[in-house]
Formats: sequence, C-alpha cells, structure tokens
Amino acid sequence: MKDRRKREVITWSRFFCCTLFMVISCVLFTGFTFSSFQLFRETFHPVLVSPWRNSAMEAIKEESPISPALEIRETVIFPDQVLIFLKYPSSSPLFTKDDLDCSYFPPNSSQPHLKLPPSWINDDPNPIHQFVRCPIHPRGFATSLSLKSNGRISVPVGPTHRWDSLVYEALIDRDNTTIVFVKGLNLRPERLSESSRYECVYGWDFKRPKFLLTSEAVLSVAQEIVRCKTPLSVLNTQDKSVKVSVRVKGRRGILNSVARPDYLPESDTHVGKKHEMCVCTMVRNQARFLREWVMYHARIGVERWFIYDNNSEDPIDDVIGSLNWSGYKITRHFWPWIKTQEAGFAHCALRARDSCEWVGFIDVDEFLYFRSNLSLRDVLRNQTIGFDQVGELRVGCYNFGPSGLKRPPEQGVTVGYTCRMASPERHKSIVRPEVLNSTLINVVHHFHMSDGFGHVNVDRGVLTINHYKYQVWEVFKEKFYRRVATFVADWQDPQNVGSKDRTPGLGTRPVEPPDWSSRFCEVTDTGIRDWVLRVLANPNTKRLPWQD
Ligand SMILES: *[C@@H]1O[C@H](CO)[C@@H](O)[C@H](O)[C@H]1NC(C)=O
Ligand SMILES: *[C@@H]1O[C@H](CO)[C@@H](O)[C@H](O)[C@H]1NC(C)=O
Ligand SMILES: *[C@@H]1O[C@H](CO)[C@@H](O)[C@H](O)[C@H]1NC(C)=O
Ligand SMILES: *[C@@H]1O[C@H](CO)[C@@H](O)[C@H](O)[C@H]1NC(C)=O
Ligand SMILES: *[C@@H]1O[C@H](CO)[C@@H](O)[C@H](O)[C@H]1NC(C)=O
Ligand SMILES: *[C@@H]1O[C@H](CO)[C@@H](O)[C@H](O)[C@H]1NC(C)=O
Ligand SMILES: *[C@@H]1O[C@H](CO)[C@@H](O)[C@H](O)[C@H]1NC(C)=O
Repeated sequence: MKDRRKREVITWSRFFCCTLFMVISCVLFTGFTFSSFQLFRETFHPVLVSPWRNSAMEAIKEESPISPALEIRETVIFPDQVLIFLKYPSSSPLFTKDDLDCSYFPPNSSQPHLKLPPSWINDDPNPIHQFVRCPIHPRGFATSLSLKSNGRISVPVGPTHRWDSLVYEALIDRDNTTIVFVKGLNLRPERLSESSRYECVYGWDFKRPKFLLTSEAVLSVAQEIVRCKTPLSVLNTQDKSVKVSVRVKGRRGILNSVARPDYLPESDTHVGKKHEMCVCTMVRNQARFLREWVMYHARIGVERWFIYDNNSEDPIDDVIGSLNWSGYKITRHFWPWIKTQEAGFAHCALRARDSCEWVGFIDVDEFLYFRSNLSLRDVLRNQTIGFDQVGELRVGCYNFGPSGLKRPPEQGVTVGYTCRMASPERHKSIVRPEVLNSTLINVVHHFHMSDGFGHVNVDRGVLTINHYKYQVWEVFKEKFYRRVATFVADWQDPQNVGSKDRTPGLGTRPVEPPDWSSRFCEVTDTGIRDWVLRVLANPNTKRLPWQD
C-alpha cells in the first residue's frame, strides 16, 4: 500500500534528478537552454489538458457551443451559498451582476430549471480572486452560470467541492515556505500537531496522483495551518494555476483544494519605515459603521486598515473606495470562508507584517480610547523601548449599552452611546507581527509568540476599548436574523427568477424587550464623546467628519 503510493507520486527528489538530467540532455544535444520552469511545463502540461472534464459536467453540457468568454474553474458548496470560481480568458472584460445568472440543473438534466441573479460578483482583477456567489441549490442539483446576453447557454459545471474538507487558501511566506489553510483536519486548538503525519502536495488535479509534486518537509501543523517547504520548481514557475493541497498519511486520497499559492504583497511603506500601527478586522454587512471607525482611529494614529470581508452584501465597496480616495490606506480582502476567524487573523497578520510595526485585531464596533493624555505612539513606544521582549499588548474592553436611545445616533456611536457596564469584559490584542510564532497559532485574538516574547496588560487608566456591543434594538437585532437562502417554498417555479425574498425563519423573529434601551447601563462614560466633539467636530458646523 505504502509502496504503491510512493510509486504514484513523483517525489521532489526524483523529480529534481529527472529535471537535472533533462536539462543536461537538452543543453548537450540541442544547444538550447531551458529554464527548469519550461521543463516543468513541457514535461507535465500536455498531459493535463482539460483535466476537469468529468461525466457530471458532460451531463450538463448543452448541445450548442459553449460561450468562450467564461469558464468555471471550480465550485465550493457552503451551507448557505455556492461559490463559483471563474476562469476568464485574459482578454475578456470582467463580468458584473448584470451579465450573469446562476442556473440550476436537476440531476441528469441539461436544462436549467431555475435561474437566479447571483448574490455577488467579485470584480478583483487578480485571477485568484474572481468568483461569483450564488444562492444555494436544492439537493442533487448542480449550479452553473449563464450569460444573460446568451440566455440558453450555460457554462459547464466545474469540479465541485464541499466546504467542510478543503484546502482554501495558501500564501508563500518571505522565507519561501508555503502556508496552507485547511478546513477539515480537525486538530486540537492551540496545540502543535505531529507534522510527520502530513504532506503538502502541489499540482493541478489532485485526483491524478501521477502529476503531483510532494514537498520534502512539513515544518509545522497547528489548528488549520500547515507550513511546508516549497519545491523549487513551484517557486520558479510562472504558472499561477498550480494548486497546493495536503495529504494526511494513512488516509486515502488528498484533500480537495482551491488554493493557489499567493505571494505576500510588497510592503506599502518606504524601505525601512513601517506604519506604527495597523488594524485587521473581519466584517460582514457592517459598511455603515466603517467611516466613523476608520476616521476616528486615523485621528488617534492608526495608519492602515485591512478589512477581511466575509460575504458582505452591503455597499462595502463604495465605502472603502471613498475612504481610499480620501487618502486612508484601507483595502478589502475576500474571506468567504466560514468559521475561520483564527485563520483569517493569521492571514492578515502575515499580510501586514512587512508594513506594520503593530497590528490591532479589533471589530468595527470597538474603539481604542486613551483615558490619559498618552497617545497611541507613547503607549506603543513605551513597550518597545526597554521592553524589547513584548510581542502583544492586551487592552481591556468596556461594553456599552443602548444608553437610552431608540434610534441609531446620527453623530455616530462614539457620541451617541455613553452608558456602559461597570467592569471590563475580556480584552483585545495589539501584536507585533514580526515576532509571531511561525506556527501562527492564535485563539480569540491571542497569538503565540516566538520564544522569548510575551505580553503585557495595558493599564486600564491608560488605554481601553469602548465596545458598542449592545446598540439600539434596530441594530442589535440584526445579529439574530438568520440568513435564509433566496429560495422560497416552490423554488422550481420559474416565477421565482429574480426573487429577492428573505424570510426570517419562523419562530426566530426577535422581539424587542420593553426595557432594551435602558439595559447594560451601569456607569455613565462620556470620555470618548467629549474628546470626539472637542477634537473632531467642525467648529462652525459642529458636524463630524463621518457625517459628511
Ligand atoms: C442519472 O443517470 C444515470 C445514468 O446515466 C443513472 O444511473 C442515474 O440513476 C440517474 N439519476 C437520476 C437521479 O435520474
Ligand atoms: C525564494 O525563491 C526565489 C525563487 O526561487 C529566490 O529568488 C529567493 O532568493 C528565495 N528566497 C529565500 C529567502 O530563500
Ligand atoms: C485608491 O486611491 C488611489 C488614489 O489615492 C488610487 O490611485 C487607487 O486606484 C485607489 N484604489 C482603489 C482600489 O480604488
Ligand atoms: C461569516 O459569516 C457566516 C454567516 O454566514 C458565519 O457562519 C461565519 O462564521 C463567518 N465567518 C467568519 C470567519 O467569521
Ligand atoms: C490632559 O491634557 C489637558 C491639556 O492638554 C489637561 O487639561 C488635562 O488635565 C490632562 N489630563 C490628564 C488626565 O492628564
Ligand atoms: C511605560 O510602561 C511602563 C510599564 O508598563 C509604565 O510603568 C510606565 O509608566 C510607562 N511610561 C509611560 C510614559 O507611559
Ligand atoms: C513556536 O512555539 C513552539 C511551541 O508552541 C516552540 O516550540 C517554538 O520554538 C516557537 N517558535 C519560535 C520561532 O520561537
């Protein structure tokens, strides 16, 4: 069994010998020089033409020619939606919501029974990030896409993966190791796992063991993250379609993967100078809170924002676009993966590492507030000068209540909510990404550090977080609404095409407690409000920057 698998997989060393031999032969006999990448392609690519054509797909293919403008690379099925990764020809313009429909095929049928508008299309020019979100399909159905301009033709369905066991993201770290994010390993939290049980595998189609490359060394495995040595030919290849996956030794097969290793972005600061502080956050439909949160934190010294967007359906694009145009360094990253907050934070910390000295992990309803006259810079500097071994600052949070309000405050949360619980509840972290442990282990915002580094608890008289956790009912109740797919009872009825119905689950409709607006109110705390009105309000109009 073991031997057979060995034979099936071309190990890196054997591959290297082969490559070396062929390079030498080529040079000797033809006088041409090939880069190892060209060889990699020449040896393997011809065999891999159209690896995805399988029978399920054939069943759906229509007789008419397929529109050449668009292909489905692959599909991931989530509990509440379908994520379809696209493959555009390089010359094709990016599609928008107005160009495409999601189409749904019953088993063995070549005719879609239903078409619905996509919930969202990602227009990122990076081909790794081009995908469409469709409402979830009924059991047994296949989801595809069709062009509105050419309604009868649906694109063939690509290979389809379930979300619960999938390699979903990968990054090449600056030491050239591959960091692989995996769902379904079910490892214990906060622990290093035995890395000899795992293998990283590189290739195009993990169902064809012949054309795979196995990494020699797995450096660490913890939680959802596997770190492997990257084979040289993968580092040197220009072929961005190579994917990475993970094999658990002793288990059959290799995990499905949609992850093509992505390089970390170049630092966006000048050489040698980093932003003093950046923030990583994960949002979902919270665009309307972003302006105040970004502008406030910019004023206290935050310089860069990394927004991980978990499937928002609100105008987050517009809000981030307008903040960017006003000069705020803010970017959005897609993070459609569910229950992956720790992995998302690790991913963000890595992306921030080259441009940020410190990274805060706070939500958009959390505001850092300096209770003394010390500035962010003072607090951070104080920790680095003479306290070299500090890798994490822990900041206590105060939870604010609705403060007697019935409607969302016009001037923003910092001005509107002024009554909170007396004692702090948990804390959030500001970490130095340079000294994170290479395993990237983190649990509820606490990262493990490299050996020799630790944390300090920041004095509550100096810095705390105002957490606007219990806002007016209208805002708070959104946390209760369960997302319900666009399908209503009779989804086979073509009348439903275009339906935007959202039925909150029966019995889950939350009812406002009569005393909601006075709950969670133990002490009056107008500190941040007074500061905001004094420092940020326009002296003439009294308006705050986020109200414009
Ligand atoms: C689909 O077709 C295959 C053979 O082509 C058959 O075995 C299978 O039962 C069919 N499935 C359904 C749901 O009709
Ligand atoms: C990473 O790989 C690239 C391409 O092979 C190479 O140029 C670079 O020097 C490597 N960097 C490190 C830190 O090994
Ligand atoms: C952000 O703003 C800059 C100008 O300040 C512009 O060049 C850039 O294209 C903008 N980026 C996005 C994604 O809108
Ligand atoms: C994203 O939102 C979904 C709700 O649809 C939730 O289940 C999931 O845990 C969220 N993901 C993260 C990383 O928070
Ligand atoms: C902060 O500085 C202001 C003037 O700059 C002063 O009025 C105030 O008392 C100071 N607060 C504290 C806590 O030191
Ligand atoms: C710097 O930090 C130390 C330890 O937390 C504290 O004792 C000291 O007062 C701080 N100094 C300033 C200027 O914040
Ligand atoms: C990371 O943490 C592990 C223990 O969890 C430790 O053995 C290892 O040395 C740490 N790595 C670094 C680079 O300090």
